[in-house]
Amino acid sequence: MLIDADAIRAAARLLEAGKLVAIPTETVYGLAADAGNPEAVAAIFAAKGRPSNHPVIVHVARDADLSRWAAAIPDEARRLIAAFWPGPLTLILPRAENVPAAVTGGQDSVGLRCPSHPVAQALLKEFRGGQGGLAAPSANRFGRVSPTTAQHVIDEFGASDDGPLAAVLDGGQSDVGIESTIIDLTRLATHGPVLLRPGRISAAQIEQVLGRALAAPDTAAPQVSGSLDAHYAPRTPVALVASVDLRDVIGRLQQQGRRVALMPYSDAATAPISTPMPADPEGYAHALYANLRALDSQGADLIVVEQLPQDGAWQGVNDRLRRAAFDSAGLLEKLLRGD
Ligand code: TXA
Ligand code: MG
Repeated sequence: MLIDADAIRAAARLLEAGKLVAIPTETVYGLAADAGNPEAVAAIFAAKGRPSNHPVIVHVARDADLSRWAAAIPDEARRLIAAFWPGPLTLILPRAENVPAAVTGGQDSVGLRCPSHPVAQALLKEFRGGQGGLAAPSANRFGRVSPTTAQHVIDEFGASDDGPLAAVLDGGQSDVGIESTIIDLTRLATHGPVLLRPGRISAAQIEQVLGRALAAPDTAAPQVSGSLDAHYAPRTPVALVASVDLRDVIGRLQQQGRRVALMPYSDAATAPISTPMPADPEGYAHALYANLRALDSQGADLIVVEQLPQDGAWQGVNDRLRRAAFDSAGLLEKLLRGD
């Protein structure tokens, strides 16, 4: 990928001045601000319409000194960092004292991630001489589908001259396509390592490095806005339908005069509006958000998503689809009845 050094320098200066800049990462685009500047971080929340008690991830350069952010780096963290950074893995660690409360959502922990996207790495190296941190949630309005291209960010917030963003760095389409895997290491003694959000780096890969099983989140787990049930949702309702039922369900919806948008990964059914998906988990994740956005703009009554296999490799995309479909549980039955 071509790196525009002038654009990176300009973006670093804007961030150092407290402005917001949208940045590409290998997972999704982020809405970045200087994590050491509480007013700049507050501007992220205002732009997203996100509740201010939700913590944001701090993105750091490859060789950054983590003690600026984390009060302790347990051995488990070191092993995961050695195995997966830079890359799509966020670690929740006990926070260092001087991390702004705006970053941690007032909690005792901080989320740290070292992204592998070359533009993000170049920017982090340039920003505050490589020793700063960029607070960056996904660059979408609260509750909406995360952006995987610069154009998606502009669709959400407007171009840099007429919206809340001072600049949008274009790094092409995000490779991974779904947000980073999040592992909580703040309660190792009592709960062990906890999987807060599944992603491209699978639970099995983490467990292999740690040599122990991951726990599932409990009610005392640190708050993760991505774990709210209604999240990652397009405006058009989404229904998950098993492959064996797909043809029948589409046919009946069409008989009822419904406009259906279909997201299949097999040839179980066809529909006039359809975005065929890759049948492997990594290809599927890469295409997921762009295709949800494309289907969402079709004015359909319903987006029908072909239900995926339920095994571990598909955990990240299944998690996002389940949340996208959360509000529509009863809707499919209603539409099939013709209500
Ligand atoms: O892949 C990603 O992680 C992307 C890119 C931009 O890096 N970022 C992202 O950020 O997905 P966001 O804010 O949309 O989701 C981050 C999640 C949130 O659910 C937040 O609650 C959680 O990480 N998080 C951040 N800091 C945390 C903390 N100290 N404790 C628990 N959860 C935390
Ligand atoms: Mg998000």
